[in-house]
Amino acid sequence: RNVKRQTMCRNDINMLNAEFLAIYDLLIPLDEEKAKQKQLLTLLEKLVSKEWPDAQLHLYGSCANSFDFSKSDIDVCLVMEAANSDKSEVLLKLAGILQADNLQNVQALTRARVPIVKLMDPVTGISGDICMNNMLAVVNTKLLQDYVHIDVRLRQLAFIVKHWAKSRGVNETYQGTLSSYAYVLMCINFLQQRRPAILPCLQGMDFTYCLTIDNVECAYFDQVEKLCDFGSRNRESIAQLVWAFFHYWAYFHDYANDVISVRSGCTLSKRAKDWTKRIGNDRHLICIEDPFELSHDLGRVVDKYSIRVLREEFERAAEILQYDPNPCVKLFEPY
Ligand code: CTP
Ligand code: MG
Repeated sequence: RNVKRQTMCRNDINMLNAEFLAIYDLLIPLDEEKAKQKQLLTLLEKLVSKEWPDAQLHLYGSCANSFDFSKSDIDVCLVMEAANSDKSEVLLKLAGILQADNLQNVQALTRARVPIVKLMDPVTGISGDICMNNMLAVVNTKLLQDYVHIDVRLRQLAFIVKHWAKSRGVNETYQGTLSSYAYVLMCINFLQQRRPAILPCLQGMDFTYCLTIDNVECAYFDQVEKLCDFGSRNRESIAQLVWAFFHYWAYFHDYANDVISVRSGCTLSKRAKDWTKRIGNDRHLICIEDPFELSHDLGRVVDKYSIRVLREEFERAAEILQYDPNPCVKLFEPY
């Protein structure tokens, strides 16, 4: 078997495409779910502003960048000045306020790497996490959302990849596999590198948006409504793209030398980033550069055991997409 095949040769590609699109449609949250999320955010804003009139709440993560599945939790960021030193105090106070308003399962996790308050709203049934002063996450959420507006195939591809990763158990950072955020960056970089390209490199264009957060300059072209037919010269279907995505990660990515970089729209060398040796827990076995925090490798959670799990899963998916008569059953089979 020539696994390194460059072309997809199936005669049922149209059917496969329709199946992927049907899965995508099923995973999209309904309008009424989005309305309930808004309702919960409005309630939280009301409670927060009573105690801290100058504070703001921002949604971030998948609920704010269109990569959320139906029935997802919401991620909220509380922003206020001069509260960085006593974050725990603020979060504990916030937890008390939420509890007093009858929100359920309220828990302040003040010792976590990212301290949060967890909650569940019995009215809407929605759960959420509130973190503090994490504006970089709010801005990288906006970047992802802006990419979504350029070509619908990004959202479709990322849904299939996330659904695959969740089904196969490789979307667990605490077990050394990748975050949803990392998978979405892999999808964006992959679509930037198709020929013709399906996505541009927004950070490589004249910037129309610029914000400096914790000394990190976040600048890029955000007038994406001007780019809505950027990818139209590329006619690849979602089935072809899913196939090519897994083939790339199974057989063509250079794990030893390359870094995926959405900021550059291409791959960079590990040497140029000085990511060649292990420092502490950063092993750099699969390298995905954060678009703004350039010293962050989102693959840093991957260790020598989990890199094997991941690569075997990429190969398994690539094989299924090439040869299996009924790929959608196998691809998303629970592990
Ligand atoms: N984030 C980040 N750096 C990371 C991981 C996450 O800045 N290393 C931020 C990003 O803004 C991301 C958000 O946290 O959008 C949520 O991350 P994650 O849970 O991985 O992504 P979601 O898109 O929310 O995925 P899911 O629907 O699986 O929760
Ligand atoms: Mg999330």
